[in-house]
Amino acid sequence: MAFRMEPVVFNFPHSRLYDFYTRVFFLKVYEQFARWIPVNNPCGSVLDVGAAAGYLGVSLANKHPGLTVYSTDLSADMVRLNKKVIHQNNLKDRVIAQKEDAYNLSFADNSLDLVINSFTFHHWDDPERMFAELYRVLKPGGEMFIIDGKKGFNYQEMKKFCRVMEFGPLGRFLARIMGKLVWIDFVSTDHARSALASSPFHNAICEDVGVFMFLKGLKPVPAR
Ligand SMILES: C[S@@+](CC[C@H](N)C(=O)[O-])C[C@H]1O[C@@H](n2cnc3c(N)ncnc32)[C@H](O)[C@@H]1O
Repeated sequence: MAFRMEPVVFNFPHSRLYDFYTRVFFLKVYEQFARWIPVNNPCGSVLDVGAAAGYLGVSLANKHPGLTVYSTDLSADMVRLNKKVIHQNNLKDRVIAQKEDAYNLSFADNSLDLVINSFTFHHWDDPERMFAELYRVLKPGGEMFIIDGKKGFNYQEMKKFCRVMEFGPLGRFLARIMGKLVWIDFVSTDHARSALASSPFHNAICEDVGVFMFLKGLKPVPAR
């Protein structure tokens, strides 16, 4: 048996349920994601699309004290929660929560160093359009780094992830239970690879990282 957890846009009250769930199970995971995300310009600007309450952006800003993070979501209630989290972490000068549609961003062309998101790619019904929009706002030399769950990860991969996260017995037990009970409609690495192949990104790859997959791409600096 599995429960389908996810609409596309997490409006109230679903936003509150998701926030409770992520606060209980995922705060440590976002800290790990922040360690995995490559930050080439430590004083640059980062855009998180579909950020929900913004824990990834906060973890990244805590790790890199020179970064400015735009933490965005289409749900007004998520933006409200995100502002609260930013305030609680004393980061309001460097993390900005705002309502944005990731398919139609208000950011100027060539304006950001890095675009990121976590657990959002499987919601994109038009990845080609999404990649084109993320590419547009990146500066030449800027990078995209997306983390999502991988469809069909196995028990060994989940065990390895629990080890990396240094989960104790309770964490390991909950990870197993959640892995069985909560059905999230992640997509396969093949799907991600074919979506990346029709994107404008250079060096576009989808890496299989056990429970997760990383989707990476570069906007090249034009040759002179
Ligand atoms: C599964 S949640 C992931 C949230 C967060 N990145 C995380 O790691 O927990 C997906 C989020 O994407 C947002 N979303 C969906 N469609 C969007 C769009 N077109 N533009 C911006 N955000 C969107 C939803 O409101 C939701 O908060």
